[in-house]
This record gives sequence, structure tokens and C-alpha cells, in this order.
Amino acid sequence: MNNSQQNAKSIWDKLSEWWIRGIEDDESSEYVEIIVPLLEGILTQKKTILDVGTGTGRMAQEAGRVTEHATIVGGDISIRQLRHAKEVTSGIQFVQHSIEQMPFKNEQFDAVICSMVLEHLESLLEAVSEIARILERNGTLLIIMNHPVFQSPNSGAAISHSHDSEPIWGIGNYLTETSEIEKISSEIEVLYAHRTLSTYFNALSEENFMIENVIEKSLSSGLSGIPELLMILCRKVQ
Ligand SMILES: C[S@@+](CC[C@H](N)C(=O)[O-])C[C@H]1O[C@@H](n2cnc3c(N)ncnc32)[C@H](O)[C@@H]1O
Repeated sequence: MNNSQQNAKSIWDKLSEWWIRGIEDDESSEYVEIIVPLLEGILTQKKTILDVGTGTGRMAQEAGRVTEHATIVGGDISIRQLRHAKEVTSGIQFVQHSIEQMPFKNEQFDAVICSMVLEHLESLLEAVSEIARILERNGTLLIIMNHPVFQSPNSGAAISHSHDSEPIWGIGNYLTETSEIEKISSEIEVLYAHRTLSTYFNALSEENFMIENVIEKSLSSGLSGIPELLMILCRKVQ
């Protein structure tokens, strides 16, 4: 592992309890409302699925639920996350690796799920290129991430000057790409890389991913007109 991968490992090992608690406590979250219902249509026919940056193994477990006899692998850089994932899931193989250098054969998988991972990486291009390598031709890549427009730095609920209008959402500096350690609390810090939509779409296009569907949905607990997540469904065409 190089320095930035070592950094990611120690950050996510340190964060693991916070992330595990957040996922387990939040049953009305985007997972239940938006992500899980989406998986069925996308993964049912798949035979070899990698959930990269699997964390608590939640997406890998859901992938197992919606498929029959598929081999499901969950990969993550954090040993602690993987240890927890092993305890709370069944039927999944877990492997420790960095997304930039995966211990899998070329074209080993027919689907890859990458949920809430890309925005935490220093190098997007390396990750997308490595995913392309291990995904077979016509294979599916499902990316889920914090919406780069509405979650750009300094975005958030803003004061509306009109009394009768709905609350509004202010967009921060969308066009300036940043990679910063975000302080969530006194103990919790996470690397958050803000990138524009064009950076994401161009990286995918460079690695011969064709975008098949883009999904934006709001949460029942959030502002009705604002999507927190962006989901991109792609196919590797070459
Ligand atoms: C925000 S969590 C998302 C977990 C899971 N995919 C989900 O949606 O619940 C990000 C995950 O990416 C993993 N991760 C971060 N950098 C990584 C890297 N360079 N290689 C592999 N995994 C990485 C972290 O350890 C963490 O489990």
C-alpha cells in the first residue's frame, strides 16, 4: 500500500465504530428508502458481484438477498469494518484491499457496487480504472454517492426571505474541486473529496463505461425538492 492508501486504512479503521453505529441506528435512512429497493431490478440476474468499500457489508448482504446462487464478495481497506461485516452477514466472502489495487483477476465480476466510496478517495481515476479492469465486458457498475451538486462544500439549508415559500437549499462552491479532511465531531474526521459531475462522468467515459440510468431521489425526512444521493448505473462497453 502506498501512503495515501495507508492513510485511508487508518482513517477508516478509526472511523469504523462511528460508521457501524450510524448504519445500524438509522433504519429510515437512504438505504431503506432509496438504495435497497433499487438493487432488485439491477442485480437479480448477476452471478459474481463485488461490493467495493463494503463497510458493514450491508449492500453485499442485500445483493445476496436479491440474487440466487451468486458469488458475493465484499472488499474494504479497513480490517475493522470487515471484521464487523463478517459478524453481521452470512454467505459473503470478505477481502481486505484498497480500491486502487484489487487482488482480483481481470473481468472476474459481472457487477460491482460502489456505494459512498468514491467521494472519500484521493484518486478517482485510479479507482475507476481498477473497477473497469475487474469487471467483465457488459458488466454493471452501480455507483451511489452523496450528490456532488447539493452536497458541495458549504451547501445546506438556507434562510428563505419569503414567509410562505418552502425552505430553500443553498449550493456552495460547486465548481471548485477540493479534497479535505472533514471534521464531523471532535473525534471523527473523514476525507471528503468534492468533484463536479463532469469529473465523474468524464472519468467513467474514459474507462468505457456507458451511463444507462441516473437516479436522483429525495428522502422523506429531507427537503422534498433536494436529492441527497446520486446513483449512476453504468455498463462497461469495451
Ligand atoms: C462511507 S463508507 C461506505 C460503506 C458501504 N459501501 C455502504 O454504503 O454502507 C466508505 C467505505 O469505503 C472504505 N474505503 C475508503 N477508502 C478505501 C480505499 N482506498 N479502498 C477500499 N476501501 C476504502 C472505507 O473503509 C469504508 O468502509
